[in-house]
Amino acid sequence: MTAAQSPITTHDLIGVGFGPSNLALAIAIQEQRAARQRPLDCLFIDKQQHYRWHGDTLASQSELQISFLKDLVSLRNPTSHFSFVNYLKEQGRLIDFINLRTFYPCRTEFNDYLRWVAEQFTDQAQYGEEVLRLEPVASKGPIDVLRVISRDASGNEYARHARSVVVSTGGTPRIPELFKAFKNDPRIFHHSSYLSSVAKLPCSQGKPMRIAIVGSGQSAAEAFIDLHDSFPTVEADMIVRGSALKPADDSPFVNEVFAPHYTELMFQQSPEQRKHLIEEFHNTNYSVIDPGLIERIYALLYRQKISASNRHAVLCLRHIQGLEVSPQGIDLSTRDVSTGQVQAKRYDAVILATGYSRDAHRQLLAPLEGYLNEYQVDRQYRALSTPDLRAGIFLQGFCEASHGLSDTLLSVLACRSEEIAEAVYQSLQGCVAHPGLKIAAVGA
Ligand SMILES: Cc1cc2nc3c(=O)[nH]c(=O)nc-3n(C[C@H](O)[C@H](O)[C@H](O)COP(=O)(O)OP(=O)(O)OC[C@H]3O[C@@H](n4cnc5c(N)ncnc54)[C@H](O)[C@@H]3O)c2cc1C
Ligand SMILES: NC(=O)c1ccc[n+]([C@@H]2O[C@H](COP(=O)([O-])OP(=O)(O)OC[C@H]3O[C@@H](n4cnc5c(N)ncnc54)[C@H](OP(=O)(O)O)[C@@H]3O)[C@@H](O)[C@H]2O)c1
Repeated sequence: MTAAQSPITTHDLIGVGFGPSNLALAIAIQEQRAARQRPLDCLFIDKQQHYRWHGDTLASQSELQISFLKDLVSLRNPTSHFSFVNYLKEQGRLIDFINLRTFYPCRTEFNDYLRWVAEQFTDQAQYGEEVLRLEPVASKGPIDVLRVISRDASGNEYARHARSVVVSTGGTPRIPELFKAFKNDPRIFHHSSYLSSVAKLPCSQGKPMRIAIVGSGQSAAEAFIDLHDSFPTVEADMIVRGSALKPADDSPFVNEVFAPHYTELMFQQSPEQRKHLIEEFHNTNYSVIDPGLIERIYALLYRQKISASNRHAVLCLRHIQGLEVSPQGIDLSTRDVSTGQVQAKRYDAVILATGYSRDAHRQLLAPLEGYLNEYQVDRQYRALSTPDLRAGIFLQGFCEASHGLSDTLLSVLACRSEEIAEAVYQSLQGCVAHPGLKIAAVGA
């Protein structure tokens, strides 16, 4: 079935992606329902076949990097049915969790919590369809309705109509230029597909392998530890551009940048001041590792020294400058930036733990670009537009530059979803654009 042939359904709201951001929004809309004149007709479309939260990265040692109290609801409504604590109660694990004495559950458990929430919204969810683009529905007057085009795994395309859209599609794996030509080589893959990709490698059958991990953020560290713990036949090198593995700063004063009220402070700054704040607190989130994990890696390397083993290494100050791929292996040449010395080493696989870019919204919204103000948003995350675009377009996870470092994380989901839910209602009531609102740069 093609988009043109599909029956057209018009919804009040279509959410693109059904990760934590839109899950939190679905809850906020449901919990606000009693105060509204009519319920909203919402549909959330996700390209995954089933609910999973970064499912291919859920290695056994991976823990949540934020307090469980920053779940989908508690900061806004601690009495919500959808709290992590209520999930634990319903699973019969509340007392055991208390005995763990932690704020940081393993990510496998938090994934299960999110799945538990998602299951309660199956009537509003469409899984297994990737949204390709958002288009204006042609009309002589203002544009009040958008067309959402999606495609399922069999190649069928669908068109749906919506009076407002919330784009929450998360990050896109960042592949360094040098490696882009090898995206179909199963030996070279981004950390976002870690578990399924490693399962296809010979090490999962107990065969020896040398594996390079590029990057020095949390993903790289988790891959390093998992290769050590789960694959005794693997020798792993972490290839690091910087001079050392650095800890994530989650000390209490610094952590206030992730509080909901900080969003307001951030938004009120000039573009230069915002940029400065993001740079100042960069080491709370990017290119940094949980301190406990750093200690584990250090202790592991120290134990190697005692036994004169050189199984694993953390290679700092290394720039990858050459790559040759053959059936025999992947030859990486790295330059030590302190000495200028170039070293070549053959690996059997390379894991790119090279982070994520935040630009998927630009491609999805490209057909509407002429109506939008360079993807900038107002305080309620609504894209600024020309007056003739009256359908509301909201962005979650693409507003770091204007709303702060919490934008890509779980930190403010509970509160942000309430703000967006309120703004969606307002946009549906009035169906008017906000051309005159304060301009805010959207994150890259
Ligand atoms: C490995 C990893 C671990 C993390 N751990 C933490 C943590 O512990 N604490 C924290 O605060 N943050 C963490 N983060 C940051 C993470 O961004 C947030 O936790 C959270 O996932 C953001 O939710 P989201 O819904 O905005 O995006 P995502 O969780 O990325 O969800 C986006 C959803 O959109 C779907 N999608 C994407 N494109 C399309 C499309 N075109 N059509 C349809 N569906 C689409 C995807 O399938 C996905 O389900 C982590 C990130 C990663 C990569
Ligand atoms: N357990 C968890 O909760 C968990 C697990 C994984 C990830 N996360 C979260 O996910 C987000 C992303 O983390 P991440 O570790 O995936 O990414 P990241 O923090 O952005 O780190 C990316 C790393 O890749 C390096 N890199 C990027 N491009 C490179 C290139 N061309 N050549 C060499 N190195 C390159 C960067 O080096 P430079 O430092 O030199 O720029 C950096 O070390 C964070 O919010 C993190 O907290 C959480």
